[in-house]
Amino acid sequence: MIKEIKNNRLFFDGCDTVELAKKYGTPLYVFSESDIIGRCDELKESFLNKYENTRAAYASKAFCTLAMYKIAEREGLCIDVVSGGELYTAIKANFPPERIEFNGNNKLLEEIEMAIDYGIGRIIIDGLKELELIEKVCKEKNKKVNVLYRITPGVKSDSHDYIVTGKKDSKFGIPLEEDVIYPAIEAAIQSEHVEFLGFHFHVGSQLFDNHSHLAALETSLKLTKDTKERYGHIVTELNIGGGFGISYTTEERKTYAYFLDPMMKRIEAFSKELGIDRPAVVIEPGRSIVGEAGISLYTVGSIKEIKGVRKYIAVDGGMTDNIRPALYQAVYTGILANKADQPKDDKVTVCGKCCESGDILIRDIMVGSAESGDVFAIFSTGAYGYSMANNYNKNPIPAVVLACKGHDELIVKRQSYEDMIQNEIIPKFLK
Ligand code: LLP
Repeated sequence: MIKEIKNNRLFFDGCDTVELAKKYGTPLYVFSESDIIGRCDELKESFLNKYENTRAAYASKAFCTLAMYKIAEREGLCIDVVSGGELYTAIKANFPPERIEFNGNNKLLEEIEMAIDYGIGRIIIDGLKELELIEKVCKEKNKKVNVLYRITPGVKSDSHDYIVTGKKDSKFGIPLEEDVIYPAIEAAIQSEHVEFLGFHFHVGSQLFDNHSHLAALETSLKLTKDTKERYGHIVTELNIGGGFGISYTTEERKTYAYFLDPMMKRIEAFSKELGIDRPAVVIEPGRSIVGEAGISLYTVGSIKEIKGVRKYIAVDGGMTDNIRPALYQAVYTGILANKADQPKDDKVTVCGKCCESGDILIRDIMVGSAESGDVFAIFSTGAYGYSMANNYNKNPIPAVVLACKGHDELIVKRQSYEDMIQNEIIPKFLK
């Protein structure tokens, strides 16, 4: 068990969270290495080892740090990066370049140059102009790079509108109109500077139903068939994205197999029918690798009870370290880590310290009797928490600790006030 209650305290991957809060201060992100390893093991068992010629590229936007790239490398994952900054971090972690793939809807020239210089494995082309940009860079550098086309499959997924990406009206991917997609495919096949491998889709995030993946897959398969029939070119790779949902409160997490088995079955049958070798199949899980592996620890400060209305307990972080409740109305749960056994008979709303009424982390949760100085732990904050943290109100970004079987290691130092102003300049006329 990653989460345990012992002596009235919450333990996480064998570490006493109250002691972690004392040792490193709060707010604090704590990641369980054992939980991450467990997810990777599930991926190996139900996908990577079960089916040949498959890869999992960890979508590192979910949680991107040097240490996480090291874990991903050790666990045999590839990675998906979406910016020069993520790529730079991966390079600094010495992540093997051939196991990096580059996604994103507006890759900058400098980013493409960086990717080609480092010799990364694949670029997922997300727009029509991108091929020209890549060709230009490859020509200048006398290099060739593997590419896939990200398509907009035009499917609807059941999730928050901001994290649904496969519908027709999306900034991501290449539209499927015949006069758009086919010339693009032909251009990539004919290019001397790229190796055109196949198609990519990502339908959305935090999904519990496989229908949109399966619908998008049909589109990729149709394009695969058309590419063979029209241009005699065999697609050798299909990337089916990420989006596998996790448990934040009471949701029951679906297995990787639930999503992947039917897709693999369909791809295998399709390949046989078309008379081609089954293309390599790549997935891009982000949230499902790190989401439940992370918790946030806070110290309770002021408590405000509005009689007959609501009781607020304020913590020393908020929308700066977890913007998801404010941005997507995301719902979390948590407990008083130092009163973990106490009966939960007090209904409170956990708010942050930012100057925004919307800075609410958890609305109406039952807890023990909260007092100033208690440690409040919020669960499942590992994905898109630290990676979306910001300095609103000039609040420093918290430290990150990696816990494993009772050991703890600092992997990101807490930002200092000095760190926050180090790039600022007072012009001479204001001095
Ligand atoms: N591949 C591509 C191309 C993506 O755009 C994404 C996520 C993933 C893979 C990974 O999806 P995952 O397995 O993590 O669901 N900030 C939002 C989520 C944005 C997801 C963006 N793309 C949130 O906090 O819910």
